[in-house]
Amino acid sequence: MNLLTFKRYTVTAALPYANGPIHIGHLAGCYLPADIYVRYLRSKGEDVKFICGSDEHGVPITIKAKKEGITPQQVVDKYHKIMGDSFKEFGVSFDIFSRTSSKTHHETASGFFKTLYDKGVFKEEITEQYFDEKANQFLADRYIIGTCPNCGNDNAYGDQCERCGSTLNTTDLINPRSTLSGEKPVMKKTKNWFLPLDKMQPQIEGYIDSHKDWKPNVFGQCKSWLNEGLQPRAMTRDLDWGVKAPIDGADNKVLYVWFDAPIGYISATKELFQTQNSLAKNQQPTTNLWELYWKDKETKLVHFIGKDNIVFHCIIFPAMLMAEGSYVLPESVPANEFLNLEGEKISTSRNWAVWLHEYLLEFKDKQDALRYTLCANAPESKDNDFTWKDFQAKNNNELVAILGNFINRTLVLTHKYYNGKVPAAEAYTKTDILLLEEISKFPAKISASIEQYRFREALAELMNLARAGNKYLADNEPWTLVKTDEKRVRTVMSLSLQIAANLAVLMEPFLPFASKKLGAMLNLNTDLKWNDAARTDLLLAGHQINSATLLFEKIEDDAISTQVQKLENSKINNQENKSKEENLQETNSGTPVSIAIADSKSDISFEEFSKMDIRIGTILEAERVPKTDKLLKLLIDTGIDKRTVVSGIAAYYKPEDIIGQQVSILVNLAPRKIKNIESRGMILMAENAAGELSFVLPDKPSTNNGSNVK
Ligand code: 2FM
Ligand code: ZN
Repeated sequence: MNLLTFKRYTVTAALPYANGPIHIGHLAGCYLPADIYVRYLRSKGEDVKFICGSDEHGVPITIKAKKEGITPQQVVDKYHKIMGDSFKEFGVSFDIFSRTSSKTHHETASGFFKTLYDKGVFKEEITEQYFDEKANQFLADRYIIGTCPNCGNDNAYGDQCERCGSTLNTTDLINPRSTLSGEKPVMKKTKNWFLPLDKMQPQIEGYIDSHKDWKPNVFGQCKSWLNEGLQPRAMTRDLDWGVKAPIDGADNKVLYVWFDAPIGYISATKELFQTQNSLAKNQQPTTNLWELYWKDKETKLVHFIGKDNIVFHCIIFPAMLMAEGSYVLPESVPANEFLNLEGEKISTSRNWAVWLHEYLLEFKDKQDALRYTLCANAPESKDNDFTWKDFQAKNNNELVAILGNFINRTLVLTHKYYNGKVPAAEAYTKTDILLLEEISKFPAKISASIEQYRFREALAELMNLARAGNKYLADNEPWTLVKTDEKRVRTVMSLSLQIAANLAVLMEPFLPFASKKLGAMLNLNTDLKWNDAARTDLLLAGHQINSATLLFEKIEDDAISTQVQKLENSKINNQENKSKEENLQETNSGTPVSIAIADSKSDISFEEFSKMDIRIGTILEAERVPKTDKLLKLLIDTGIDKRTVVSGIAAYYKPEDIIGQQVSILVNLAPRKIKNIESRGMILMAENAAGELSFVLPDKPSTNNGSNVK
């Protein structure tokens, strides 16, 4: 079915786990393309609801809570807010950003499960599952790691292998170990409720085969699961954090997070209408309107996700919806591949990421620069790379030099020649007429790309319109012509202003902030829609435009080197923490999992130990190392001398708080240059399970500077 055969759209973006902030990989993977698509649909005048929220259950959350020493509820409260705020500021225009800990969600997910249970859909089975005797807990999903039976990855999770992408059951893992204690788990019997995907295979196969139009990466992955033969999958877990399983005999069990999370899309839609209902008290009650967006055959359901979520949205969730029976099925699942950063996989534990909330602080009012770069480089058909240099080039050489330059020249000349009043076009030349025709085709061309989820292509086409504008100005040189042919200049400027107006409309899905700014500068009717951009009379003669400011600003080298430096610092810290990292595993979304206490290192002789000269010293001065997040430059009185040491403790101590602080310092570590500062020695720090550092200190104040630690 093409776009026009649907009456309304329910567009979802994957519910991010509320266990960390949003980074550019998330944005490029699903939130930005989803936002472009929805903004486009709105501009086409379509009825669309854009649904998201945080995924607040599952092992990733409880692992984070354990690592931070706080409760799962505290974890989700913290990250739900950080994520929601940064999405909003970045212009991701969800109609609702809900959360799966909400009452409506618990009721909806629980009700959905009960419906399937009452229909006899589930297969109830007692199976042996891994159990950690030390932690006294069953080891579901990411509580267990081991070797992937398909690709040999030693750090595959109980539910998925990140290396080969296969979906696993914990019992598939070879050489399994608990992420709670590091221990080898034992087998223990437990009852769970399984979705019989094996029995549903023909139905699911029919559904997938009716979607040969899906992106090749999505369709291909689905086919390979089907070829391997679907297996029953447990929809309950022996955990205590999640939606309680609503059936007798399931005490201490919750719904599988991948059962509850996609239902989060449904509950969020319900909540959206509850909110709208309470806002519009005098209007018709809208309580059940949500059902139109999920159950009416003329609703197009589109899920934007990253590639690691394909099986859940294309097979498991549709199977749940089929089993329930009253819902429409996903019509399209435009999953993207992954975005890398400076040639390496984005990683939370190695802090190898560009965090959205930090970007928004450090690049004030430059949301569109990042939106542009991420869209132009979107990993639509293969993994792609983000580099800071490319970000700068895309901003300076494309946004500023092509789009911004065209707008600026047009607006400045309009003010200069006509005091900001749109001139009347006189006689069009042949080339003008061709250009007018070309302009009128842009909305349809860009639409065609967007409707096929080819956002890079759509953006490139948008830039071609700005290029056409620049070429028109360059070919006609109104600034020269003004001396000899004022009539012609009026036509040239009128036509250029029409292009500017069309650009303001067409850029909105991609660059909403610049679109708004340009619309205000052109004093443009705010009701203009996508199809209006095929017209060439958006600005009538005599229309007064407002004063012009630059649409985009250049990004200077300094700003880029600060970011590159930040990543360099991560590298330095990673090297220093290498031994610690060996004890960390990454979850799917990159969350570190601490595996109890590090194993002891191999034995050294007393002679080797006594080579280390460790002393007690006192910090005399402390200051931040410029352009770094983690480093402090310290002046230490070691009792032997006063020396400079660069230490990676800025995240834990403010410089002003540690003046006068005693420390233990390794004084005979060979000098090293860190950020061009010669660092002589190393402060000894104790690191707790959460990765926080604290000083290693003598407990008697009389221990003077220079005292040996032995
Ligand atoms: O991979 C993830 O981050 C999951 N939290 C996505 C869930 S999408 C949906 F099903 F809720
Ligand atoms: Zn694997």
